[in-house]
Amino acid sequence: MNESIIIILLGATGDLSKRRLLPALYSLLKHKHLPSSWLLCGVGREAITTPDILKTALPFVEEFDEATWQEFCSHFVYQKTDFANADDVEHLARFLETEKKKLATDVVNTLVYMALPSQFFAPVTQTLGQHTVIYKKQNDQKRGWCRVVYEKPFGQDRASAGQINKVISQYLDESQIYRVDHYLAKDIIGTLALVRFTNRVFEPLWNYENIDWVEIALRETVSVEGRGLYYDAYGALKDVVQNHLMQILALLSMEAPRLLSGDAVRDQVAAVLQKIYPVDGILGQYDGYFAEKGVAQGSKTETFAALKFMIDTPRWQQVPFYITTGKCMNTKDTVITVQFKHVKCLLSSSCPSQANKLTIRVLPKPLFSLELNVKKPGLLIEVMPVTMDFCYECTFGSVKGNTYELVLQEVLIGEQSISVRFDEIEFAWDVIEKIKALHLPLYSYQKGSRGPKELEEFADKHHMRWQS
Ligand code: BG6
Repeated sequence: MNESIIIILLGATGDLSKRRLLPALYSLLKHKHLPSSWLLCGVGREAITTPDILKTALPFVEEFDEATWQEFCSHFVYQKTDFANADDVEHLARFLETEKKKLATDVVNTLVYMALPSQFFAPVTQTLGQHTVIYKKQNDQKRGWCRVVYEKPFGQDRASAGQINKVISQYLDESQIYRVDHYLAKDIIGTLALVRFTNRVFEPLWNYENIDWVEIALRETVSVEGRGLYYDAYGALKDVVQNHLMQILALLSMEAPRLLSGDAVRDQVAAVLQKIYPVDGILGQYDGYFAEKGVAQGSKTETFAALKFMIDTPRWQQVPFYITTGKCMNTKDTVITVQFKHVKCLLSSSCPSQANKLTIRVLPKPLFSLELNVKKPGLLIEVMPVTMDFCYECTFGSVKGNTYELVLQEVLIGEQSISVRFDEIEFAWDVIEKIKALHLPLYSYQKGSRGPKELEEFADKHHMRWQS
């Protein structure tokens, strides 16, 4: 049976589509991951032409070549649709039906990508379900598969996430639902559990007896860019802490899964998420935030957060986990630092002043770096910290800049490891609600800085030092 695919991109005029999804789809075509017969239908409320949308995505395309770009453009069509307007929806459904027939293959698969704010997930799923644009999995192979991707954050809080999930589950089977977190598609995040649990040099030491503290930083130099309207309603806690950072924290702190795959890992992630609780933190907002388009004057939305968590499991007694994240900072990186405890000094003098430290850099260049103490060459016993580095790209070649290419590739092959299970989402929302309950102070900070100056007072208060 020959197969084709219709990809329906909802929110096609948005920032995510322009910067990440359209360029990722172009790369999929370039790397020959799309079937020979396919159609990409962009959907949005804006009155904009198909060529104009493509033009906005062009600056973000990697490995550009004219022939592939022209081919990509020939498969793309934009349909202006307001989901609140029954005629618009009717028109879209009819259009898709006609296009399906034109593809003229035995089977037409459907991939719907909801690059929309989460309040639209339930009503749009419902409407598409009622018009059978999306449909529940069936045993009829001729029908083709139907998979729906929901961009994070899934909901605004636990209650709204629950409502969305209830509605979408009426129209789709769990195996068709992809609540994606693109951080899970980053190679180095995907390897965290494997590195922890397949290396004896790590797993037996990975606990309160040997680890002093852990820090995870996800910093960005960019502002909220064109996403003020979305961002102002969410803020850093809901934009990246509830999802990317909670997933990383859980992968670093969970117990060993039965198997290093699928639901076995998700069970452990979900279990530890219930044990994570915040104890302190500060929030920040960069100067000039109000000038961003879509941001409410006097908004109290945080664009920065520094947080201290504890984990209520026997493995992590008294071990603090710190998280920092922010927009408009001095650097763009995502770095995990695991600080080990000091060993008893067996030297008569010159005891090591540094304890071992493991740095796992996710961005920009993936790296594992272990800091060790060695003796300086020479007659005297002088201890010196050195690093043992594993540079990911040196071994495996260059890592894809656009993680969404991998996200889409996994959805195309039906691999759900980049999808977050609903209970994980609920427990991560619980953590955010606990943070909100702390009523953390909000400070301002300068663009291009390390965050609010109060960050240092916070460090002193907790007898710690931020890593960079
Ligand atoms: C997204 C957030 O999920 O992650 C953005 O909505 C953020 O605000 C982005 O910029 C960061 O992703 P990456 O892959 O560039 O670290």
